[in-house]
Amino acid sequence: MSPAPSPGRWLRWPDGETTPRFAYGADYNPEQWPREVWPEDVALMREAGVTVVSLAIFSWARIQPAEDTWDFGWLDEVMDLLHAGGIAVDLATATASPPPWLTARHPEILPVTASGETVWPGARQHWRPTSPVFREHALRLVDALARRYADHPALAAWHVNNELGCHNVYDYSDDAARAFRAWARARYGSLDALNHAWGTAFWSQRYTDWEQLLPPRLAASHPNPTQQLDFKRFSSDALLDHLRAERDVLRRLTPEVPVTTNFMVMGETRGMNYADWAAEVDFVANDHYVLPGPQALDELSFSANLTGHLAGGRPWFLMEHATSAVNWQPVNLAKEPGELARDSLLHVAHGADAVCFFQWRQSAAGAEKYHSAMVPHAGSDSEVFRSVVALGRQLAELAPLVGSGRHPARAAILFDWESWWASEQDSHPTSRLRYRQEALDWYSAFLALGVRADVIPVGAGLHGYDVVVAPVLHLVPGPLAKELTRYVEGGGHLVTTYFSGIVDENDHAWLGGYPGALRDLLGIRIEEFAPLPDGAAVALDDGTEAGLTGTLWSDRVELTDPTAEVLASYASGALAGRPAVTRRGTGAGSAAYVSTRLGVEGLTGVLARLLDAAGVTAELPEAARGRVELVVRADAEAAYWFLVNRTAEPVEVPDVAGDLLAGRRSGAAPDAPVRLDPRGVAVLRRPLG
Ligand code: GLA
Ligand code: GLA
Repeated sequence: MSPAPSPGRWLRWPDGETTPRFAYGADYNPEQWPREVWPEDVALMREAGVTVVSLAIFSWARIQPAEDTWDFGWLDEVMDLLHAGGIAVDLATATASPPPWLTARHPEILPVTASGETVWPGARQHWRPTSPVFREHALRLVDALARRYADHPALAAWHVNNELGCHNVYDYSDDAARAFRAWARARYGSLDALNHAWGTAFWSQRYTDWEQLLPPRLAASHPNPTQQLDFKRFSSDALLDHLRAERDVLRRLTPEVPVTTNFMVMGETRGMNYADWAAEVDFVANDHYVLPGPQALDELSFSANLTGHLAGGRPWFLMEHATSAVNWQPVNLAKEPGELARDSLLHVAHGADAVCFFQWRQSAAGAEKYHSAMVPHAGSDSEVFRSVVALGRQLAELAPLVGSGRHPARAAILFDWESWWASEQDSHPTSRLRYRQEALDWYSAFLALGVRADVIPVGAGLHGYDVVVAPVLHLVPGPLAKELTRYVEGGGHLVTTYFSGIVDENDHAWLGGYPGALRDLLGIRIEEFAPLPDGAAVALDDGTEAGLTGTLWSDRVELTDPTAEVLASYASGALAGRPAVTRRGTGAGSAAYVSTRLGVEGLTGVLARLLDAAGVTAELPEAARGRVELVVRADAEAAYWFLVNRTAEPVEVPDVAGDLLAGRRSGAAPDAPVRLDPRGVAVLRRPLG
């Protein structure tokens, strides 16, 4: 399915205000505090430059304390207070956490695990996406909220539920079974088609009645892989269906108010195929939390980049990130000085016109009391709050670039949720493969070389890219194989890796030798995979003294096109002497194959050669490559260059022209090097044309 970008509406600022400005703020949970605190909250928000808050996300139990009792008084008061303070509201539909009265009366809305255990109330998001009873109660609440606040002047957008699928993406209940059957019927039309797609000739699984179909519940051995893949598709679609149902109520009652929901493009969160979701919201919103480790900043950039492309290159809304520590990792690290602003501005660089946090005031009680906020436990006399105020000021200074879009790069990384799901299923050649990690490693290699790369979803179109890297593009339906072939024949340079082109949309192997759907394009053939055991490495000769090292995977590659070149060959192990990295030229274009996991360092060398061959060069001056990330936004008049210091040391970037909107030069001359503080960010405006 090709992703259609979201329609591109934005917050409806109160009082018809149209001056460009960032949305800056947080989730605001006033119900956790006595009302005496509320006016102080608004005063501090004004001090911090807050322009928007997300309200009522977990307020269901407070708004509707019993089935036929409604309490809007407190929310009216908060909405009025915020509006009087000049703060807009992204109002949640409050359906994320069903109240105890509802689950006590209707335990049939509670999700069920694959092994049949009930997911009980006590945390949040304990609802089945396919429960008709839940849907009815949720939509009643949405209806009541929409009618109540339709004309409230603070209402700037609707926030459907919260992080749909954060905890409840996979539900194996009887409701899910019923909905899965209906979904499969709509997809396949006939049982014959389903039996073929699911390969049910295997292990005597042939279905003779739709009623026999089930979610892939706890089974005696590996459940049917196509059934598993379809269940992933179905589960994403079921949540999307819930999003549409809430949205449709809102659009009917308040057609002029934009609707969004917060995605989770981040780390290993993979249940929702956001490429399918993006067109269903008026603007794309994302939540992102830094995942500690050597690629933490690369991962932030990767996620923000992909989010920007889900938004079709238009501005998007960073709905949540953290001012400092989170509470849900084994060890929760506080941010270092400069990190709060740097992380926020890196999202802005990748197209965010909203910078919001979870949450406004750090909770005194509850599961998230150790999660950072804009106002920490220590109060406003704190380093965190001072940083929050400083960021608010800086965003006000950057207002001129609000509304500008992403400026396309010459290279792209192709990202595909279906390949992610399919490549990591069980009973594969290795269980160690990590789809997103491989994609991220390529992205880190681009960052190391100082070459910008867009992270684009499959279906977004490859036009305009000189180089497209498709790591572990495992699931390749016929039309995608054709698109890639046309791209290469049209002069594009495609790079792909191990375990790509292996199966079609039904997870059936393409026959005749690997990499199946991409075999002819790559000019290679592989008879058998050769995954590597844990801890094993294989040496590669790439003509350099150091050589390369492969782990995880290797392939017995044969060249079928004698014109294909070998860029590196195996130098140790059973495959010694055989091709490991290949490249087949096709007129102006080429198709390259990397048959093992090279890691960031190895990929950096290989990528440098491939980019060179494709004529793609770094825009960033050599002195800054690797240490600085360059991201570019643009509008009709100007490009905005973001120079983001990736290190904890000062960095000087020579030879960059432009007027500084943020940051400084190391001297008075207009061409003096731009001086970046540790973790600092500079923004240059460079007129176009
Ligand atoms: C998610 C949720 C928030 C909060 C944060 C904590 O993003 O949407 O309600 O739980 O995580 O990091
Ligand atoms: C067992 C089973 C076979 C097959 C093999 C796979 O031997 O009897 O049906 O599943 O394992 O190794």
